[in-house]
Amino acid sequence: MRLTLGLYLLSSSLLAVTTPVSLKEPSTSSLAQWLYTSDIDDEALSLLERPEIHGIQSLYTWKSLEPRKDQYDFSAIDNDLNHTQTKGKSLWVQIQDRTFSIDSNPVPKYLHSPIYNNGSVPQCDGDDCDNNFIAGGWATAQWNPHVRERFQRLLKALAARFDGQVYGFNLPETAIEVQSNNNTTGYTCQDYFEGTLDNARYAASVFNRSYAVQYVNFWPCGWANENNYLSDSFQFFAENGVGVGGPDNIPFKQTMENNAYPYMSEYRNKVPINVVAVQEPDLAAINPNTSKPFTKEEFISFAEEQLGSRILFWALSSPWLHQ
Ligand SMILES: *[C@@H]1O[C@H](CO)[C@@H](O)[C@H](O)[C@H]1NC(C)=O
Ligand SMILES: *[C@@H]1O[C@H](CO)[C@@H](O)[C@H](O)[C@H]1NC(C)=O
Ligand SMILES: *[C@@H]1O[C@H](CO)[C@@H](O)[C@H](O)[C@H]1NC(C)=O
Ligand SMILES: *[C@@H]1O[C@H](CO)[C@@H](O)[C@H](O)[C@H]1NC(C)=O
Ligand SMILES: *[C@@H]1O[C@H](CO)[C@@H](O)[C@H](O)[C@H]1NC(C)=O
Ligand SMILES: *[C@@H]1O[C@H](CO)[C@@H](O)[C@H](O)[C@H]1NC(C)=O
Repeated sequence: MRLTLGLYLLSSSLLAVTTPVSLKEPSTSSLAQWLYTSDIDDEALSLLERPEIHGIQSLYTWKSLEPRKDQYDFSAIDNDLNHTQTKGKSLWVQIQDRTFSIDSNPVPKYLHSPIYNNGSVPQCDGDDCDNNFIAGGWATAQWNPHVRERFQRLLKALAARFDGQVYGFNLPETAIEVQSNNNTTGYTCQDYFEGTLDNARYAASVFNRSYAVQYVNFWPCGWANENNYLSDSFQFFAENGVGVGGPDNIPFKQTMENNAYPYMSEYRNKVPINVVAVQEPDLAAINPNTSKPFTKEEFISFAEEQLGSRILFWALSSPWLHQ
């Protein structure tokens, strides 16, 4: 786990100076297969018994973990931890601070006040968000320092309880589509960027034994490293012991290659861990070379050799899990 981090960073930075090419070489069979789910149900528990599966990543909303101010309810994680440990497997926790449905708000009710920008603001789900904002979910107002203060208090409580118990912990993807420069939301790209980094740094500072990871796919106002958001964020994660990851492992996908993928590869040995997921939509992606969905082997080889990931989180509907 992260205990050897200092030594690890030291040796990898020496390597980077002397033999930069060796870092790009595929390490042999170091990629572990895990499951990914929004909810650990009976199907998930039964798939977890497969011998090649090391553990499971599950999602928990802020609202579910803090139903009332300062009253934490970690029973869902406790339960899931119990189930996974009983099977000799590991649990990975993703704190969900955004949703993709307008009917489901990820934040506790007490945040619904102007000082917190209501805690969350509508997120656009559409093709032309600049001109036609269709609210399709919610994003936590992490650019608001009062919101972050409450969120980090939750992270601290989670670490006090689960550090060293869960294998890893991650904050969700960086992509977000909210109304900017709007006097109601208070959102700006720069405040969101800084707020996200601040939360990631904080998470890594309280989780000493479990991995703390930030998912990065796209930064708003940061396409193809505009504003240096991609390069600056990965550098920041390396300096602050934050692992990196992404929600979508789609081999050689151009939009991703223009954004986070090259940085995941470059930083594979400069951060504590690098992980990636094959979520449901990724299973439908078509390999242009074969005109078929990507195979299990293609997903694995891309994650391992190109991205340098050490864990691959598979959606429960992945065909190979049902063969
Ligand atoms: C863990 O689960 C087992 C059954 O799987 C149950 O008997 C036990 O009470 C649970 N422990 C806790 C702490 O929830
Ligand atoms: C992690 O280490 C820091 C600094 O030593 C300490 O303040 C904090 O309580 C530790 N966190 C946990 C969950 O043990
Ligand atoms: C903010 O967004 C709301 C909702 O679309 C809109 O009514 C309002 O005019 C916007 N305010 C600014 C300052 O752009
Ligand atoms: C938004 O806030 C700025 C600065 O407080 C102010 O100058 C501007 O008039 C406000 N715009 C709207 C539409 O309220
Ligand atoms: C907060 O909620 C109130 C009441 O629902 C609404 O009028 C206001 O526009 C919301 N503010 C933001 C930032 O969404
Ligand atoms: C398709 O094949 C070309 C040539 O071998 C290769 O460069 C490219 O990465 C492949 N694309 C995918 C998605 O595998």
